[in-house]
Amino acid sequence: MLDTKKKDIMFTGIQPTGWPTLGNYCGTMCNWKYIQKKYKCFFCIADLHALTTYPRNSNKNSMKNNFSTNILDMVALYLSCGVDPNSSIIFVQSDVHTHSQLYWILSNFVYFGELSRMTQFKQRFLLKNKTTSLSLFCYPVLMAADILLYHTNCVLVGLDQKQHLELVQKIAHRFNAIYGNIFIIPDVLMLPIGNKIMALQNPEKKMSKSDKNINNTIFLLENIDSIRLKLQRALTDSDCSSDCIRYDVFNKPGVSNLLSIFSCLTSKKISILEDEFKNYQYSSFKEKLSDIVCNFISEIQAVYYKFRKDEDYLIDILMHGKENALKHSTKKLYSVFRVLNL
Ligand code: TRP
Repeated sequence: MLDTKKKDIMFTGIQPTGWPTLGNYCGTMCNWKYIQKKYKCFFCIADLHALTTYPRNSNKNSMKNNFSTNILDMVALYLSCGVDPNSSIIFVQSDVHTHSQLYWILSNFVYFGELSRMTQFKQRFLLKNKTTSLSLFCYPVLMAADILLYHTNCVLVGLDQKQHLELVQKIAHRFNAIYGNIFIIPDVLMLPIGNKIMALQNPEKKMSKSDKNINNTIFLLENIDSIRLKLQRALTDSDCSSDCIRYDVFNKPGVSNLLSIFSCLTSKKISILEDEFKNYQYSSFKEKLSDIVCNFISEIQAVYYKFRKDEDYLIDILMHGKENALKHSTKKLYSVFRVLNL
């Protein structure tokens, strides 16, 4: 049985909806390997959250199949990013019933107005106001349940989830104010650089899984030649001075974005990179960057494909994950039931 007594707890979740991007990697995934040293980690595959956006009109069986292959893909990806299943817990959200139970309870401690102010919801609602589901509205409440069930001290998320996390803290405070210290108020952990990885052809907006222009996004499981081509075509500017490789988000968003990627993958400071690439032209800088990115992603892919072949092993990890997640979260759910007289 895993011992969670010694360390603080870190919780994070990822939706099993398609391949993660280089932006996701730099934003959170690159930290998974290291964060396990300091925290006992729970990695949740948030398939219930994925239901909010998953196409619903496909037939039931194919959707189920799709979900389970995506979930196994995610487990192999966790492993290829250095998650150690012997010290961390990887589990599927819908395998652990306590999440939906606490979700309902917590929805009594959050107000309509608060959920209406969530930027992600507002954006969706503006786009498709007739078909925006209730689940999309309540999305952050399920996140609150995910996190608060595990005595979580810290949550690792991308910048886009910051507002949701602040609401989670508010819900926990509100509950505690009435019923005593039932929940820990989790800290939010965000990586400084990685949250700013932008679209390659349009560095004013974030790199996204669902971008219509495929040249904007690099996927972790994408073909290496295609990654190289996308980086070489990445939008820069017409500056050809000797210090054209400069970090200046306002005037040079394209180059700044490429510098951020470089810095994240090599752990070199941006100022060191600016020095290193003085007198470089864009084309030769991009070539160096492509080598770094392609080597890096090739290594991840090699480990990924090795693990992905062994489905029995991946399923075994999820079974253990389920058992552990159930054990930990049931305790917390019962303490909530107790104070609510349920
Ligand atoms: N909503 C998160 C995302 O889309 C995924 C997620 C679900 C999550 N539950 C969570 C992240 C709990 C952190 C903590 O990125």
